[in-house]
Amino acid sequence: METTLTTPDLHTTSGDQPVKIRLRNLTKQFTTGGGPVTALDDVSLDIPSGCFFMIVGPSGCGKTTLLRILAGLDTPTSGSVEVSEPAAGRPGNSMVFQGGSLFPWMTVFENAAYGLRMRKRPKAEINEVVGHYLSRTGLSKFSHAYPHQLSGGMQQRVSIARAFSNDPDILLMDEPFSALDEQNKLLLQEELLRIWEETRKTVLFITHSVDEAVTLGDRIMIMTAQPGRTKQIVDVPFARPREVLELRALPAYGELVYSIWGQLREEVQRARTQDEGSVKS
Ligand SMILES: Nc1ncnc2c1ncn2[C@@H]1O[C@H](COP(=O)(O)OP(=O)(O)OP(=O)(O)O)[C@@H](O)[C@H]1O
Ligand SMILES: [Mg+2]
Repeated sequence: METTLTTPDLHTTSGDQPVKIRLRNLTKQFTTGGGPVTALDDVSLDIPSGCFFMIVGPSGCGKTTLLRILAGLDTPTSGSVEVSEPAAGRPGNSMVFQGGSLFPWMTVFENAAYGLRMRKRPKAEINEVVGHYLSRTGLSKFSHAYPHQLSGGMQQRVSIARAFSNDPDILLMDEPFSALDEQNKLLLQEELLRIWEETRKTVLFITHSVDEAVTLGDRIMIMTAQPGRTKQIVDVPFARPREVLELRALPAYGELVYSIWGQLREEVQRARTQDEGSVKS
């Protein structure tokens, strides 16, 4: 088993960009009281540098497990993970979790500054960088507020400001907007697109929403029901910068969403049949 998490540049390419993340035959099994559970099964993937890479798949297909392995929070059972080394002094990745990942005893500013402070960056740099991202996420006025004084959408904006302030090589986002109402989701998608345009970081973004995947992504991986495998990888052809509402008005947008839904629906139905089977047995 090979689990290299930092290797020198991976030069081989798929397309023009160098490969940032390379997975080969990645498998993850969990041991549970009910026997072994295969969360990921033989996933092989190249993600180019600067790609906004979306992952969709039915509940329980291993999406979070994949992100946790990339974040170094979990290890694969077999297969290999290679990630090209970040520039000196820059963290490899930052993860944005679904809700509830802020420190409740820290202010908005302190939360957003956490990664930079841990890396002992100079105070002037922290003030400038964090100030920039709090402004970009519309939170400047709330920099001294505490998380419990914010709405769910504002808290997610702090998580995003924290992740970008940390300036990681790779951003790992696990359903960051799924708990939000439609209006706030739309605004945050637009904000994320604008901030990402400035940095063009490599992003891995999990979502249950096909609309969100097509709106944000360059490439979408559709996963099978458990055990999670790659069912299909779809390139999103729309030019950037993107305006969310304009994009959604395009006939080609609707066609792409429809075709991805067709693929995903089969897997969601399969996952439901599996669940019903396991309840009966
Ligand atoms: N620590 C663990 N111990 C045992 N089983 C686990 C563990 N973590 C995940 N699993 C199992 O692995 C499978 C994949 O879980 P994972 O959380 O990656 O799914 P997911 O695709 O993120 O689902 P969702 O869309 O519901 O968030 C599930 O069957 C889950 O029960
Ligand atoms: Mg998950």
